[in-house]
Amino acid sequence: MSRIAYVNGRYLPLRDASVNIEDRGYQFSDGVYEVCEVLDGKLIDERRHIERLQRSLSELRIAMPMTPAALSVVFHEVVRLNRIHWGIVYLQVTRGVSRRDHAFPPAGTRPSVVVTARNMDFAAAEKIAGDGIAVITVPENRWTRVDIKSVSLLPNVLAKQAAREQGAKEAWFVDNSGHITEGSSSNAWIVTRDGKVVTRQVDHGILKGITRTVVLEVMAKQGLKLEERAFTLEEAQAAREAFVTSASQIVMPVVRIDGKPVGNGAPGLIASALRRDFHQFAEQS
Ligand code: PDD
Repeated sequence: MSRIAYVNGRYLPLRDASVNIEDRGYQFSDGVYEVCEVLDGKLIDERRHIERLQRSLSELRIAMPMTPAALSVVFHEVVRLNRIHWGIVYLQVTRGVSRRDHAFPPAGTRPSVVVTARNMDFAAAEKIAGDGIAVITVPENRWTRVDIKSVSLLPNVLAKQAAREQGAKEAWFVDNSGHITEGSSSNAWIVTRDGKVVTRQVDHGILKGITRTVVLEVMAKQGLKLEERAFTLEEAQAAREAFVTSASQIVMPVVRIDGKPVGNGAPGLIASALRRDFHQFAEQS
């Protein structure tokens, strides 16, 4: 079965799906994206993803290309056409097609919209979660508005590749003050020796993960103590547990940081419990 993509109003086989070479996403990475988990054909936390999309677009002064309700119809149609059981739906909105010029294109230029979806291997992901992943650290070298979910991801691409080359699955950015901000495609968390769960406060320096927001709710229900603050590499290496969160990884235990084992080197109880309970708290639509 050929995969189907939505491109500016049409559902097309992937091989026929294309955008104009003067699309500002291609020319300037002038656009934003969202990744939403799909479970049993249902979208996970779709409402929050669409809200974050609207915020990213408005920060960049790109018009919302269609109503949230219309976008939801497209999401569900792409999920249906691609027969997604467990996987992701990907949305990209750019400032549209116009002759290359850095400043904004003429008023009325229509944003470009692409939606794709793909299945992921649930059993393989569960196996990885059961083993835990390794992370490395890299210097924070991104711009100062990473709260906007921009498709401009070159530092994230290089960080992820560095991780891969060192046998790790994620890279954590470390800022000038020695604090971890977040992963190249996930939020970063630790559990201290005295059982407090720590994750960085949200501001312009990290993406406010939707998974992060839901995990905070799960934690409250489980009676876990939270500290929203930055933590250092040393603190993370001395922690009892560490984990990352993202739409595609849900809650993923971290068992090594820059080659040093975290805790006893196995996935922690808190991370595993948060992963187990996550979908009871996430919205499904
Ligand atoms: N990444 N931080 C960054 C830099 C991210 O790219 C992501 C998500 C997150 C977690 O956000 P959420 O919980 O809403 O997925 C944090 C997506 C999955 C990606 O780029 O594929």
